Amino acid sequence: MPDVDVVLDQAGLTNESVREFVRRWAGITGAERVEVVNTSDDARLAQEALDAGELLPVGDGCYYSRSYFKDTARSEERTIVATSDPSDKGVYNNWRPSSEMKPMLEERMRGASAGKTMYVIPYLMAPPGSPLEKFAAGVELTDSRTVVMHMIRMARVNVSYVNDLADQDSFVRAVHVTGDLPNLGQGTPDDQRYFVTVADERTILHFGSSYGGNALLGKIAHGLRQGCYDGWKNGFLVEQFMLLGITDRETGRKYNVCGGFPSASGKTNLAMTLAPDALGDRYVVEFYGDDIAWLWVGDDGRIYGMNPENGVFGVAKDTNEKTNPTALDSIRDGSGTIFTNVAYNDKTHEVWWEGRTKTPPADLDGWIDWKGNRIAERGPDQASDPWAHPNSRFTTNLANVPNVAKDYEDPQGVPIDAIIFGGRTSDREPLVRAITDVPEGVYDGLTLGAEATFAADGLDGQLRYDPMSMRPFMSYPEGDYAQHWLDIIGAATTKPIFAHVNWFQRDPEDGHFLWPGYRDNLRALLWLVALNEGQVKGRETPVGVVPVKEELKLEGLEIVPEDLDTLLSIDVDRWRQELDNREVHLKQFDRLPEAIWVAHRRVAEALEAADS
Ligand code: GDP
Ligand code: PGA
Ligand code: MN
Ligand code: MN
Repeated sequence: MPDVDVVLDQAGLTNESVREFVRRWAGITGAERVEVVNTSDDARLAQEALDAGELLPVGDGCYYSRSYFKDTARSEERTIVATSDPSDKGVYNNWRPSSEMKPMLEERMRGASAGKTMYVIPYLMAPPGSPLEKFAAGVELTDSRTVVMHMIRMARVNVSYVNDLADQDSFVRAVHVTGDLPNLGQGTPDDQRYFVTVADERTILHFGSSYGGNALLGKIAHGLRQGCYDGWKNGFLVEQFMLLGITDRETGRKYNVCGGFPSASGKTNLAMTLAPDALGDRYVVEFYGDDIAWLWVGDDGRIYGMNPENGVFGVAKDTNEKTNPTALDSIRDGSGTIFTNVAYNDKTHEVWWEGRTKTPPADLDGWIDWKGNRIAERGPDQASDPWAHPNSRFTTNLANVPNVAKDYEDPQGVPIDAIIFGGRTSDREPLVRAITDVPEGVYDGLTLGAEATFAADGLDGQLRYDPMSMRPFMSYPEGDYAQHWLDIIGAATTKPIFAHVNWFQRDPEDGHFLWPGYRDNLRALLWLVALNEGQVKGRETPVGVVPVKEELKLEGLEIVPEDLDTLLSIDVDRWRQELDNREVHLKQFDRLPEAIWVAHRRVAEALEAADS
């Protein structure tokens, strides 16, 4: 047992509540050493990880990591929100009593870090000085050096964030123990993993994974699940939202848009969007956040939003010069980026993933797939396996993102003009439909239906409802969540406009995406802004206002005219079916506010009255 106090003294970690937390868990996990980390330790940790072979070098100053092959995505069924109040049980939060979960996790973690270092990561999930700062401090304990390096990129990491707390006790206690990955029965009836947020104690206990989405506790478990619960109790919203600003340089006006798309459905790409070349340099998109937004009502009565994160944990697949040049710039040599589960060349120190280039590198020499197999030696049965895992990722600091907003660290956040929802929906959902009524906008978010993606283990392609894209992060009952949304947006004197977007409609015959997507997505947002400004009128439909073709900026857009027509039309019959499904979906939720049912009935009746 290490002398924890000596280590904490040397690190200048003075917060007595944090020290007590560290002592207790050093005892339980049986770690051999304890080490406190600050952002300034990054270069040393990287060198240690390279020396230990945990990371491999990429280009000049970037890193490669490979995770255990059964540990590559979030596990939703092993993720639990626990509290001591049974009425906190919702449909999606996998609620369990904390009295049952805490001892179970403690038992699994007991002695499980023997021989390892327990790193102490004091962090802040907010720009310093934020009005929500008191909900943002935390300490993650982890026995994985790679997790530390990810946290340094994704959060603000320094002992000062806990030393300087006004209330020394008010930090999230987050414990991550990796466990013996080859022996955890992932996905079997004997699965040993548990990812638990004890929300009413602001404690996070994650056992059995080193994948970012399960192990970066500041980001996913605190930034989303714990935040969601804290927001409910303290009057703010925490959502899986991207946040961007669009400046029209001709008028000087800036519009801030945030919105929820399920994991791996386009948030990062949208926040990094470059305006299509054909639109010239009139519109500039600035990146605020790509995965989490905390929202509150400001003193001026507007909704404000900020990104609690300090980095990007982006999907690698299909990232290339054409789809997302901004992302490639963010992960350039010297950026300190960590690539996970992509393909790696151990001779040239290059990385590759599906969609990086049209075809894989022709010279196979040195190339290894994400599982560690040499490509040149893969047998015929493996020949069609992807080189990179579909959920392979890059992790880079916000400061590396070329379009990051100049004021991205402004603690006051930015006023929100529009809230959008979207996901992978292969039919029915048009390119964009705007909604001006607040309950109808909240209803639209609650009925977000989309295909699940490879970011969640074993669910790829499954069509399901994902309320506001928060299904995997929901920490309290959905009816209360809906009411909380109505309360917060209701308290704003200037309301944002809502919209639903879809970049993923497909041709039913050959499956091609009808909309070219990526940089062209800005065209849909520009229409929404113009509608909000009263410059265009659109066309009223039972499910919102959709653009008429002439109102879209179509310069340079490469699209088949019939595809564009489909993208701007409403399939009334298909929508009527959808409303029946929504009714079943919404009926699952206790205490769903009447205003949401009113919105549902209004849409249903409008669809009944419409011509099919
Ligand atoms: P996030 O996980 O929600 O942040 O989603 P990303 O922006 O990382 O995108 C996830 C995947 O969807 C990546 O493989 C992207 O290349 C792809 N993607 C993102 N935007 C679009 C789009 O507009 N059209 C198409 N077809 N694919 C997209
Ligand atoms: P994503 O982030 O939404 O960008 O994919 C990770 C996740 O939600 O698992
Ligand atoms: Mn996410
Ligand atoms: Mn993302």
